Amino acid sequence: MTVSSAPGKVYLFGEHAVVYGEPAVPCAIERRATVSVEARDDDHVRVEASDLSLDGFTVEYAGSTDDRPDVNVPAGLVEAAMGYIDAAVEQARDAADVPDAGFDITVESEIPLGAGLGSSAAVTVAGIDAATRELGRSLPPEAIADRAYRAESAVQKGEASRADTFCSAVGGAVRVEGDDCRRIDAPDLPIVVGFDGGAGDTGELVSGVRALKERYDFAADTVETIGDVVRTGERLLDPDAATDVDAADRIAEVGDLMNFNHGLLESLGVSSRSLDSMVWAAREAGAHGAKLTGAGGGGCIAALDPTPETLTALRFTPGCEEAFRAELTTDGVRRLE
Ligand code: MEV
Repeated sequence: MTVSSAPGKVYLFGEHAVVYGEPAVPCAIERRATVSVEARDDDHVRVEASDLSLDGFTVEYAGSTDDRPDVNVPAGLVEAAMGYIDAAVEQARDAADVPDAGFDITVESEIPLGAGLGSSAAVTVAGIDAATRELGRSLPPEAIADRAYRAESAVQKGEASRADTFCSAVGGAVRVEGDDCRRIDAPDLPIVVGFDGGAGDTGELVSGVRALKERYDFAADTVETIGDVVRTGERLLDPDAATDVDAADRIAEVGDLMNFNHGLLESLGVSSRSLDSMVWAAREAGAHGAKLTGAGGGGCIAALDPTPETLTALRFTPGCEEAFRAELTTDGVRRLE
């Protein structure tokens, strides 16, 4: 058996706009998806998943994914999860050049599914790493990131950036602009996450933004303005940037830019009532700033607050199901067995 884990992430800035070539800055957080893989002696794939913010499910299929048995959890979420696992299996088969490899796969995740914390990227990255190694081949994190991007892109019908998968594979804070992906230095940010218990459909949300952008020039300008926010934000994060602003003020300014970024995402139609109410609860509790993270539509917000106030406020906010402090991690994909 081979076991790998990969982290989730929060976006400090730039989701959605990154799909159109603007830069984005996600940071890996110490909440992980762990994928265990055992090769079979036929070409079947059996997947057992738990803790994906749903009751868990087991699915077995041979070759095609059409003949899945019924499972007792929302079909949309199972399909979404299965799509990423299928795509990861295909990438591993291709990387190891064993096109008919079969696997028993177990997925355990601390990252809620479809909630903006990069669950699909983490499952895809850990799945490709574990399955490829199970077939006797080992890829460096950048190659895993590239294959995970191709897998995600296939599931999201070409509407994916490299941001989530690169961040999950290499860890730390990263900057992604088109195909240019790199680690960046960032201070240890006091990130608090609020989760409304819901999920958004990334593919639909991305298509919605594309439709707005094609219809209205000001929506296209909004996407470019998000890029400007990211360019300003990354200078604040850079510890070597020449600036007369001290470290605490820089973090406060990062918060201002997160607020700005949330407003722009809101105007692109990807926020929701519960995301907005968690954002406002965080701001009213004194957070430096707060924004939705990931595709939106429901799921998580990220706020910056070194004090316990935001965490407490979120725990009492109607619509917020869970709030926690997110530890940033510099570890991407981890090989456990
Ligand atoms: C989803 O986590 C982030 C989006 O920007 C899509 C992507 O970058 O692939 C909405």
